[in-house]
Amino acid sequence: MKVLVLNGSPKGEKSDTLHITNAFLEGMRETEEIEEEIIHVIDSRIGYCRGCFVCKKNGGTCVIRDDMDEILDKFIRSDVVIYSFPLYSYGMPANLKVLMDRTMPLSSWTMHRDETGRYGHRYQYDLQHTKYLMICGCGYPNAKQNFEGMIRQFELKYPENRTILTVPESPMFNIPQAAPFTKDKLRQLREAGAEYARNGELCEQTLQQITAPMIPEEIYAQFANKME
Ligand SMILES: Cc1cc2nc3c(=O)[nH]c(=O)nc-3n(C[C@H](O)[C@H](O)[C@H](O)COP(=O)(O)O)c2cc1C
Repeated sequence: MKVLVLNGSPKGEKSDTLHITNAFLEGMRETEEIEEEIIHVIDSRIGYCRGCFVCKKNGGTCVIRDDMDEILDKFIRSDVVIYSFPLYSYGMPANLKVLMDRTMPLSSWTMHRDETGRYGHRYQYDLQHTKYLMICGCGYPNAKQNFEGMIRQFELKYPENRTILTVPESPMFNIPQAAPFTKDKLRQLREAGAEYARNGELCEQTLQQITAPMIPEEIYAQFANKME
């Protein structure tokens, strides 16, 4: 199974969220043989989509020549694409949004209406087998009134074969003293990775377990406020 990780944290390797993603990948590896590649998007040369729609009419080739050529090629050949990133302003960091916009060549010009009345473009590459996973960490202790906008964007972008994992209090993963609290969450993430590799999805119970805070929100906020 080919897994492509798009790490959208501007901190690259030092990302808090990458701890979450790495634990998940470890779990996947326990169940399936996986061939993984992590792209630190911040280090890639990716220009803004110019909005010309040429790619939608020429069979899927963007007019811009940059690192996106190679990334799109890897995207198409992957079984699982993981967007791993921190919540920024209730959405994704700008560098990753630029990449997401540049996936425009994957679908063609014609728009179709589905049974719910929603319009969308169909893929012009064979992506029927591709699964999409969003792994998003954040700095606040709450999931509610924080992740909703990002979750909705990902749901609309990838209506099918999609799984969403949100993890609050994620700066704790980069604090060695917090290990007594993070180790349980990392174990849950490994188990979730194994479940995902086995079933191609996660059950509701697993999703709820992952998104629950590691320590009570008031205590987390007190600690965070002392770190000023
Ligand atoms: C520009 C910016 C915007 C942020 N916006 C949010 C936010 O909307 N909600 C939240 O809970 N945390 C927010 N955070 C905190 C990050 O999500 C948090 O520090 C996260 O652990 C960073 O993960 P990373 O190390 O993987 O980049 C923001 C941080 C920055 C720098």
